[in-house]
Amino acid sequence: MDTPALKLSRQDATAILTLDRPEALNALNLHVFDELEAAFTTLANDPTLRCVILTGAGKAFVAGADIKEMAAFSSVQARAFSRRGQQVMNLIEGFPRPVIAAVNGFALGGGCELAMACDLRIASERAKAGQPEVNLGVTPGFAGTQRLAGLVGRSMAKYLLFTGEIIPADRALQIGLFDEVVAPEQLLPRCLEIAALIATKGPVAVSYCKHAVNVSAESTLAQGQAYEAELFAQAFATHDQKEGMAAFIEKRPATFAGA
Ligand code: CAA
Repeated sequence: MDTPALKLSRQDATAILTLDRPEALNALNLHVFDELEAAFTTLANDPTLRCVILTGAGKAFVAGADIKEMAAFSSVQARAFSRRGQQVMNLIEGFPRPVIAAVNGFALGGGCELAMACDLRIASERAKAGQPEVNLGVTPGFAGTQRLAGLVGRSMAKYLLFTGEIIPADRALQIGLFDEVVAPEQLLPRCLEIAALIATKGPVAVSYCKHAVNVSAESTLAQGQAYEAELFAQAFATHDQKEGMAAFIEKRPATFAGA
């Protein structure tokens, strides 16, 4: 049996998932995907959860897909591995609560792809990012060719993909791959601070915002607007809308129930 690679801890309404495979700098394999899927599936059913932080132990966030395990893959195995990785990353992207990548170190290849499937990327000054798959004679397999352009633009995405350059955190911030860069010791506190702020907001509204932005990447403006109007309407069917607006009018903080 494989040693567990994913550790779960909890701080108030925030779950912290830590990838911990030190022998492979937290590289992704099928076993890790199973653990990620199980963790996010369980967390999705937790009504008290407001946010997830995903991070790595040691000097890497995730150093990519596991090269030692991939090296002997046939095309059939490679396709199945790619599809499985994409499926797990889609699960994270579609997770009904915000997911923050706390990028503590190397986020390379599949690790950069995993970070990009999260909603926010808060990074340590020590973090480095890139899609170095061309060094191995392959393409990214977990949607790096698709999500990267959405964050940094097509041209910069092509630059990073063609050259395999590994960029420091300040450069990743500059091009929009990271949202914020902080001192290493501030990484988890800052992520928890953001998560705690999100936890004070209407949970249904936060979830709707996430889905509306995700939908915008795959729809026309008209389709996205129709979806937004539908979510806006549905928000008015929640207790939280009544509470949020009443609290504003009564000049008091709102107490949201998540319903
Ligand atoms: N897969 C498997 N093992 C890995 C790994 C990976 N992606 N990355 C690092 N490791 C292993 C190393 O082989 C090494 O193991 P040994 O001690 O048994 O030799 C251990 O982790 C420590 O790594 P290094 O000694 O290399 O550490 P370093 O600090 O000198 O270098 C690094 C760090 C720059 C991240 C370097 O390890 C590296 O370049 N890793 C590979 C990065 C990469 O190419 N990622 C893309 C993978 S392909 C992919 O992800 C495809 C996809 O999209 C599906």
